[in-house]
Amino acid sequence: MPESTALTFTILPDEVRQSSAIGAEVQLPPGMPMLDLDRLTESDREVLQEALFRNQVIVIRGQKGIDPTALPKLAKVFDPNASDIHSAGEKAVRDPKNILSAYKAGRIPRAPQVGIIGSGRFQNYEGLDELEVVHLDHTLFHEKPLTQEELDDGYTRPYRWHMDTPFYERLPGEVTILHSIRIPNVPDQKIKFPDGKEKNIGAGATAFFSGARAFALLTPEEQEFALNTTITYAPQAYEYIRQCKASDDGLTIPTMGKEVPVEKLSEWAWDKVAEHPMVWRSPMNPDRPFLQVHGCCVYKLTTRNPTTGDVTVMDDVEKVRKVVYNMQKKIYAAENIYAHRWQEGDVVIFHNRGVMHSITGQLAKYKEEEDRKRMLWQCTMTSTTPPMSFRGYEGVDDTGYVRV
Ligand SMILES: [Fe+2]
Repeated sequence: MPESTALTFTILPDEVRQSSAIGAEVQLPPGMPMLDLDRLTESDREVLQEALFRNQVIVIRGQKGIDPTALPKLAKVFDPNASDIHSAGEKAVRDPKNILSAYKAGRIPRAPQVGIIGSGRFQNYEGLDELEVVHLDHTLFHEKPLTQEELDDGYTRPYRWHMDTPFYERLPGEVTILHSIRIPNVPDQKIKFPDGKEKNIGAGATAFFSGARAFALLTPEEQEFALNTTITYAPQAYEYIRQCKASDDGLTIPTMGKEVPVEKLSEWAWDKVAEHPMVWRSPMNPDRPFLQVHGCCVYKLTTRNPTTGDVTVMDDVEKVRKVVYNMQKKIYAAENIYAHRWQEGDVVIFHNRGVMHSITGQLAKYKEEEDRKRMLWQCTMTSTTPPMSFRGYEGVDDTGYVRV
């Protein structure tokens, strides 16, 4: 048999994937140690798409030194309609009301679609004299922070499950690409799940769960409800929940009261507020429904009876959060979560419209600044096409925003 000259992929081993339905590793064509998009054939691109859309998260190892301008080009392999605008906006966020400013995320000057995230101070990096990035502390996120004892025992948690999108003015990208420049030099950490199981993960692992798997775990009644429901996200969603704290699992906000009143939010208009189906159709998986919901940012549910056309609206935020949480929390088990164990040089591509992801990792407790240092590039570009409802119906969900 002649040796392959093509790009291939392998599904990650069962013991890593478990029941997450996530994870594959891409092997670049022989003689191409560094990804070179111009040299990929049309069929290589198709294999890449298949690898991603069937496995939701794929990794290309050993890409240290890749040019940052390759990342936006790579994203367009999966979403030809991607704009060249980072989903957090054209410039790095400095507005203190925006959660992204707290990460102090920078941008790479020669590739403004690529952000820099992580932890630590870096000098003379990519044309930036001084760069400081912050790995947010879990105490900012969780209503009940980890205890000192849990921290000493090496526990961490998902901070907040999300898709990369502001839910305002810009649509979620089809994919996000992360590239690991530096990983922290600290021991493994672990997550404790409600059923008592534990999962060992690399410190600073990025955790993922599949929206398709989350949908499959619903009862038939819940599936029917989800298929008929559209979600309106909160106006200026991240500002609205800026002071709110999440549940231990990072899926919801368990108590009401800390939301910024809508009249005190930065200027906003309904026609820029995101309104997305609860269940999304993915172009390459037309038969697989994805439950794609950001449980902390939800505001209102609109459910349409497909037979009668009758519409029911639920606009009590507390109730909306509960309904969504009761559906989504079933996924939160060790075997359903894929936690990417970073190696320096990894390029990870994830299907932003098919998974939810979260930061994990307690880095602040390590004394040596050098050990805590971590740097990732992040390329997430807003798409120009709204998410497609799995069950299309007349009315509310075809623009990606609230209809006015
Ligand atoms: Fe993210």
